[in-house]
Amino acid sequence: MTIARAAVDLDVTGPQISRHLYGHFAEHLGRCIYGGFWVGEDSPIPNERGIRLDVVEALRRLQVPNLRWPGGCFADEYHWRDGIGPRAERPTMINTNWGDVVESNAFGTHEFMDLCDMLGAEPYVNGNVGSGTVQEMSEWVEYLTRSGDSPMARLRRENGRDEPWRVPFWGLGNEAWGCGGNMTPEYYTSLARRYATFCKEHDGNRLYRIAAGAADDDIRWTHALMASATSSNAPDPQRSPFQAISFHYYTHAGTGIQKESATAFSRDEYVRTISKAYEIERVIRAHEAVMDAYDPNREIDLVCDEWGTWWSVEPGTNPGFLFQQNTVRDALVAGIHFDVFHRHAARLRMANIAQTLNVLQAMILTDDEGGLVLTPTYHVYEMNVGHHDALSLSARGVDVPTVSVDGAEVPALSLSASTKNGTALLSLTHVGVDGPLSVDVDLRGRAVSLVGARVLTGANAAAHNTPAQPDAVRPVPLNASMEGSVLRLQLPPHAFATVELALA
Ligand code: AHR
Repeated sequence: MTIARAAVDLDVTGPQISRHLYGHFAEHLGRCIYGGFWVGEDSPIPNERGIRLDVVEALRRLQVPNLRWPGGCFADEYHWRDGIGPRAERPTMINTNWGDVVESNAFGTHEFMDLCDMLGAEPYVNGNVGSGTVQEMSEWVEYLTRSGDSPMARLRRENGRDEPWRVPFWGLGNEAWGCGGNMTPEYYTSLARRYATFCKEHDGNRLYRIAAGAADDDIRWTHALMASATSSNAPDPQRSPFQAISFHYYTHAGTGIQKESATAFSRDEYVRTISKAYEIERVIRAHEAVMDAYDPNREIDLVCDEWGTWWSVEPGTNPGFLFQQNTVRDALVAGIHFDVFHRHAARLRMANIAQTLNVLQAMILTDDEGGLVLTPTYHVYEMNVGHHDALSLSARGVDVPTVSVDGAEVPALSLSASTKNGTALLSLTHVGVDGPLSVDVDLRGRAVSLVGARVLTGANAAAHNTPAQPDAVRPVPLNASMEGSVLRLQLPPHAFATVELALA
C-alpha cells in the first residue's frame, strides 16, 4: 500500500481564511439565472416570488457568503435600468456573449437582492465599465444604497423598496482585456479610477471596490493597477480607489482552447487537469509578488472572482450555455483550489466559483421539470464549511508520493487545516487513481481528539450524480484513528476527505 506522511502544527495559527473564499457567481448565462435560480412566480416548481425554493434550501447548507452578479461578460453589456419596474414593461435585449438569446430582464436588481436575502449571502454587484457610463454606474449605487430623499432613492421606492440595501462588494467591469472592452491595462486602470470615484459611499455603505484584473498570470494588469492604486495622486489619499484586484483562472486538461469532455477523459487528461489545478498556486504567487512590491502592508486584496473547470458542453445542449457535467475529478480540483486558497489567505480574500447553477463547475444541476442534482463539487463546499473565517494552520506533506504526466510530477496528496472555536478541520485530497493511500498525519503542538471523518469519492474519477442516481457521489463516514499524536486513515483512490478534531 502506498503511504503518505504529513504534519499539521496545531499551535501555530496563520491568517484568517475569509469565508468569502467560498463565494459564488451567478451570471445571465445559459440556465444559471433563468431555469436555475429564477423560474417565475407562475411556475409549478415551488418558488417564492419567482425564486426556486429547493435551490435556495440546498445552497443555504453551504452558507454562501457572497454572490457575484450579473456577470462575467454579461455585466459589461447590462444596463440596470432595464431590469427594474413592472416586469411586463421591461425592455428586452440580446445576450450577445451567451447564445445570442433574448434576455427578458425579468430577473433584475430587486430580484437579485431578494435572492441574496433568501440565501443569507452578501451581494457582489459587478458594474458595467465596458459599455455603460459613469453616471449609470453611479446611479445604480445610489439606487441600491441611498436612504432619505434622492432621485434614485425615490425611484427605488416607486418600485416597492423603501429601505436601501447594504451592498458591500462592487466590481468595476469584468475581463477588461477581453469581452469587457478589449482594453490595455493602462487604459483600463484610468477608467477604473474614474468609475470608482463616482461609486459613492451613501449613508455609511462602505464599498469594497474590485478592479478587473488579469487572466491567469498576466501580471502586466497587476502592475498597472497596483502602480495606480498606490500612487500619490490617488483620488483619495486616505484610501485606494479600489480595495481589491481580481484575476480569473480556469482549469481544463488541454493545451489550447479546445475543451474536453467533462465525463469521458483519459488518465493523462485526468492528471493534466490535476496538474493545472495545482498551477493556480504559481499564478497566485506571481500576483502576490507584484502586490507585495507595491503594497507590503497588504492594504489591497487579491480576489479570484472566477475559477473552476471548463469542459465542452453536454452533448445536445446549446454551446453558448456552458452546461457541463460535474464528476469526482471536478471535486478534486475544488479540494486542491481550497488548499491553495487557505495557504494564501493573507492576500487572497475572496474567490467565486464559476458558476453556482447549471454553468461550468456548478454546485447544482436543475431541469425544467423540477429535478435537482447536487454535484460532487457541492459536497466539497459543504464538507469545507468549517474553514469559513477559521484561522489557517500550517499543514504540509512530509513524504508524499507523486503521480506523473508528460514527464511532470504532481503530489498525490494535497491538504490544508484550520482552527476555530476549539476545533480543527483538516481537508485532504488524494488524486492517485491506482489504489488507496495510507495517510499518517502528525498533529503537533496541541493534544486533540478525533471527532469524525468523512470521505467523498465514486466508482471512478468520472463518477457523477444524475437524476436517476443522485447519490452516486456523496460523503460517507471514513474510518480514522489516533495513535498518540498521529492521525491514521486510508483514503480511497480519487477522494476528498475531511477530518474534524477537538482541541484539548
Ligand atoms: O464564467 C463564464 C465567463 O468566463 C465569464 O462571463 C467571463 O468573465 C469568463 O471569460
